[in-house]
Amino acid sequence: MIRVLLHGACGHMGHVVAGLAANEADLTVAAGVDPCPQPMEFPVFETLEPCPEADVVIDFSTASAADGLLDYCVEKRLPLVLCSTGLSAAQLERVREAAELIPVLRSANMSLGINTLLKLVREAAGVLGKSGFDIEIVEKHHRRKLDAPSGTALMLADAASDGLPEKPEYVFDRSGRRMARPKQEIGISAVRGGSIVGEHEVIFAGQDEVVTISHSAFSRSIFAQGALAAARYLAGKEPGLYSMQDVV
Ligand SMILES: NC(=O)c1ccc[n+]([C@@H]2O[C@H](COP(=O)([O-])OP(=O)(O)OC[C@H]3O[C@@H](n4cnc5c(N)ncnc54)[C@H](O)[C@@H]3O)[C@@H](O)[C@H]2O)c1
Repeated sequence: MIRVLLHGACGHMGHVVAGLAANEADLTVAAGVDPCPQPMEFPVFETLEPCPEADVVIDFSTASAADGLLDYCVEKRLPLVLCSTGLSAAQLERVREAAELIPVLRSANMSLGINTLLKLVREAAGVLGKSGFDIEIVEKHHRRKLDAPSGTALMLADAASDGLPEKPEYVFDRSGRRMARPKQEIGISAVRGGSIVGEHEVIFAGQDEVVTISHSAFSRSIFAQGALAAARYLAGKEPGLYSMQDVV
């Protein structure tokens, strides 16, 4: 039985992971951590320190919690499935350092669909980007989302960039510019509103034709399912930095 520590247990994603894990035979949530604890089917602690032993941590909390979580996982030699988004460059460097000592799987999007989309975008950029198509990414999320653009939009931009012959510039705001669009850029736009779970569109705009590849998330369970699959994959693995591309 794989024992999971659920970090950010009482948030939207924490509840979905807990609900799905309750129906799994090979996996159990040993404890949750959340500074705003709520009654759940397992003990929830306000901090990591009093938590019981576990085999893997699943994190859906917030970027500001990542440093403390990395310290704890390294100290306890605990594999970490890191799903929180909006980590700074310095925090991403700390993730890489931690991955020398423990297995860490980080992905801004845990869904099977988006991880398949990444491959398609890389391939399309290789063909269309090289032929002069402009690449734009539009993402839409609920009004509560803290970071913008989404980590998934950045992953999609990186995938497109991988397919291009030259490294593009990512442009998040054109409001102050008065110039035609240079070829070597990827525009990334964020829409926030209502309860949108997550929508991503990658637009390849060429002369007289446009190719759009898109993904819509209708429920948070796609991320939670991915996180459970990642926890199974990571428990007992060698130290290293893994991604959902390793799991799918
Ligand atoms: N990788 C993915 O596929 C994916 C999918 C959905 C959401 N996310 C990310 O997961 C995170 C959580 O999303 P959400 O919608 O559940 O947010 P949420 O605000 O509903 O939940 C976050 C929870 O984390 C708790 N928290 C805050 N500080 C903490 C700390 N120091 N230690 C432990 N818990 C702490 C909060 O009290 C809250 O209950 C966000 O960063 C979001 O962008 C990632």
